[in-house]
Amino acid sequence: MRKRTLVGVDVGTTKICSVIARIQEDGFRVSGVGVAPSTGLKKGVVVNLTETIDSVTRSLDQAERDARVGVDSVYVSVGGIYVQGLNRSGKAEIRSKTGEIDKEDISRALADAKSIQLPRHYEIIHMLTQGFTVDGQEHTKDPLGLVGRRLSVNLHLVLNAGAALQNVVNAVNKVGVGVNGVVMQQLASAEAVLSEDEKELGVILLDIGGGTTDFAFYRLGSVWESAVLPIGGDLITKDIAIELRVSLEEAERLKKEHGTVFPERVDSEAVLEIREIGTGRARTLPYRDLCQVIQARCREILSEVQTLVDRIHRKEMLTGVVLTGGGALLDGLAEQAEEILQMPARVGYPMPMESDRELAFDPSHATALGLIRYALDMHGVGSGNGAGTMLPEASKSRRGGLMNWFLRKIT
Ligand SMILES: Nc1ncnc2c1ncn2[C@@H]1O[C@H](COP(=O)(O)OP(=O)(O)OP(=O)(O)O)[C@@H](O)[C@H]1O
Ligand SMILES: [Mg+2]
Repeated sequence: MRKRTLVGVDVGTTKICSVIARIQEDGFRVSGVGVAPSTGLKKGVVVNLTETIDSVTRSLDQAERDARVGVDSVYVSVGGIYVQGLNRSGKAEIRSKTGEIDKEDISRALADAKSIQLPRHYEIIHMLTQGFTVDGQEHTKDPLGLVGRRLSVNLHLVLNAGAALQNVVNAVNKVGVGVNGVVMQQLASAEAVLSEDEKELGVILLDIGGGTTDFAFYRLGSVWESAVLPIGGDLITKDIAIELRVSLEEAERLKKEHGTVFPERVDSEAVLEIREIGTGRARTLPYRDLCQVIQARCREILSEVQTLVDRIHRKEMLTGVVLTGGGALLDGLAEQAEEILQMPARVGYPMPMESDRELAFDPSHATALGLIRYALDMHGVGSGNGAGTMLPEASKSRRGGLMNWFLRKIT
């Protein structure tokens, strides 16, 4: 039975964002949002369970109060430096006398593709179908009933370290809610900010968070590459703090309120009032100094992305790059991405959805909002191929009952 409420919890490095949505005939309506600072993660990985539980509790409580509903199970984003994407293909001989492909042939081809030696202690969290070919002919998404002798499938597998995955699930379970499914962060963000046309024609999604920059390359409606870079917006803040000798809090404020990627566009005489680290003494510094620090680090982040883009070798098939996550709000970053990556770039705001909550329209909430769209797909509503990971149906609620304390092997 389809649930009437869906809840997404984005467990990020800088904040935990919970979104509650009511399912309607034509989609969903955001009815509650909760955001709490996240202190228990480093580069997308849980390093302090108690702090993570506390942050998730605060975020969910806030969303529940906002929506005036209680939550018993959620979809959770997973990210971090242990997430890896890889492509695999599998084959199956078509067994029926007529040569018609049946479900069993498809299952055997899929099983062949995922029968790989996983790195020790790693789990498959997504098995995303890129497409099938029959006797080496044209790519199709649905080969059922087609006639041929040999079926091949291409998959994009997403792996995560089992312990990293389990720690996120445990943190959420210990808040008292079950986990319906886990979704790689950039996959969720893509649901919120990319159009179906972009995914079909070719697009790169970059979710620039606090701790990591998550990369995904879509074409023909599927993921063909994914990666997590261990660099994000918090590094820019740290650089500012060190170079300009201000506290992290002051550096974050300077970045958000005054930061821009292009120092040459700032008046060369302009100065900023700052408070010195340690002493708290007020002083001034040239505005351009701040922008130079920002420019250098952003250039580095984007050149790491360039290395991934170069590996794809399919530039001619791209519509461009879409930047989302809180880091995408940095003034001038999309323009710098256009220059470095040599393709059109835009900031990805979550696509219009029914909501009266302003928070719902911020790129840093793309993952949480995308989780709702993703979950809706899995419930058989909405568009997309719905491929993803479902954990066993979470059991019961904060108001009692069992929960999936242990993550079972996903197939
Ligand atoms: N207006 C802004 N200008 C520049 N940077 C910003 C702005 N708003 C937020 N950021 C930066 O975005 C980052 C946080 O982004 P986001 O909320 O997407 O991260 P997260 O999801 O918690 O982390 P991750 O995805 O890495 O686990 C921080 O580094 C923050 O400084
Ligand atoms: Mg994030």
